[in-house]
Amino acid sequence: MSDQSIPRSPGNNLDPWYANYAERTSGLAASEVRALFAVASRPEVVSLAGGMPFVSALPAEFITGSLEKVMREQGGAALQYGSGAGQPALREQILEVMALEGIRGTVDNVVTTTGSQQALDLVTKLFIDPGDVILAEAPSYVGAIGVFRSYQASVVHIAMDDDGLNPDALRETIAHLRGQGRRIKFLYTIPNFHNPAGVTLSAARRPEILEICRQNEILVLEDNPYGLLHFDEKAPDALRSIDENGVIYLGSFSKTLAPGFRVGWALAPHAIREKLILAAESAVLSPSAFSQLTVSEYLASTDWKAQIDTFRGVYKARKEAMVAALEEYLPDLSWTDPDGGFYVWLALPDRLDSKQMLPRAVKELVAYTPGTAFFADGRGRHAMRLSFCYPTPENIRVGIRRLATVVNGELDLLDTFAGTGPLQIASRDLHVSAPPPDLD
Ligand SMILES: Cc1ncc(COP(=O)(O)O)c(C=O)c1O
Repeated sequence: MSDQSIPRSPGNNLDPWYANYAERTSGLAASEVRALFAVASRPEVVSLAGGMPFVSALPAEFITGSLEKVMREQGGAALQYGSGAGQPALREQILEVMALEGIRGTVDNVVTTTGSQQALDLVTKLFIDPGDVILAEAPSYVGAIGVFRSYQASVVHIAMDDDGLNPDALRETIAHLRGQGRRIKFLYTIPNFHNPAGVTLSAARRPEILEICRQNEILVLEDNPYGLLHFDEKAPDALRSIDENGVIYLGSFSKTLAPGFRVGWALAPHAIREKLILAAESAVLSPSAFSQLTVSEYLASTDWKAQIDTFRGVYKARKEAMVAALEEYLPDLSWTDPDGGFYVWLALPDRLDSKQMLPRAVKELVAYTPGTAFFADGRGRHAMRLSFCYPTPENIRVGIRRLATVVNGELDLLDTFAGTGPLQIASRDLHVSAPPPDLD
């Protein structure tokens, strides 16, 4: 058969290979966050959209010193392939970091990864067949939803409130799904300073959530990049500190050091850890030795806990600036008031659609992330995520003032043209507690 006779699937004008992609790519779409980065990076725009850590608060000379020392003393290893599980010295130090959140693990069960994002990908690859269910908070981290979609998982959201994931909602959803014969593979949860909701799972709920999952043989995937960035009170101990067999714990140096190193990790029960290493090796052979050795040197030679305290102070001041500005400029709306992390979740009046409003906001030189980015089922239109991690307190204030102009302008327009009567203010909840339109 000549090449010319091989049937070719129809493409389209933009992409001649359109019809050839694997089915699982149908869930691959540029996230709203990503599309926004391009616009929001213009200097005149106050971006409350991205989750970029404020790396300028790092002591640059220590980072440079660590880099130089690594090259001087371990240059050969730094430039070489390494172990699929990661550098042993760094994995020891990761145990010290996790001990701050009550976790006791063994070096053997720590696998370093290219950011915790890669760990999310690997765990999903290990457990998900198309159609399997992943339970996730409502709302949930946009980057995790993207990974889950790419493995054709069905993401079912569980309601949260100011104390985090709601155990009753979890129980009911599990029973409902089981009644339909669905296969639930794991619960994905961000217990501390949630992205995007800004809330923390209470200490009282932690054992309850774990017990529900244990009874239903559902693995827990605990994602905790923000846990050490508390403003005052420490977050309760990690879920993994209560249950070491039923929890895979993900950590990261992206928020407590810098995302540029791309160093994260997974702490997994032994059998899972074996499979994780095999999956990691087939994905990247080994994570960057250069990055891991530099992070390891930084941890060994710097007062990294004091640096985390510095970050906590920076983010606390920014959170306070955001909440004060919301109180001043948008007093009728409701928002979460986080005890740590990077994010505030703002509920809008039901008549406003955060996605539709975004172009107007960008025109007014402020950017945010529409709530729809954080749901797999189309919800989130009446909410948005506001990040306070990157802009200065002064710029946060300017940004919220501009946002108020947009919100009030939209409401005026609706009042003028729709004759909808007096403004209905959203109730003081997360605006995410309605049941999903269709659990399938
Ligand atoms: C909840 C959550 N998980 C995981 C990640 C990925 O982090 P990294 O891959 O940089 O470790 C992020 C980044 O923003 C996040 O917010």
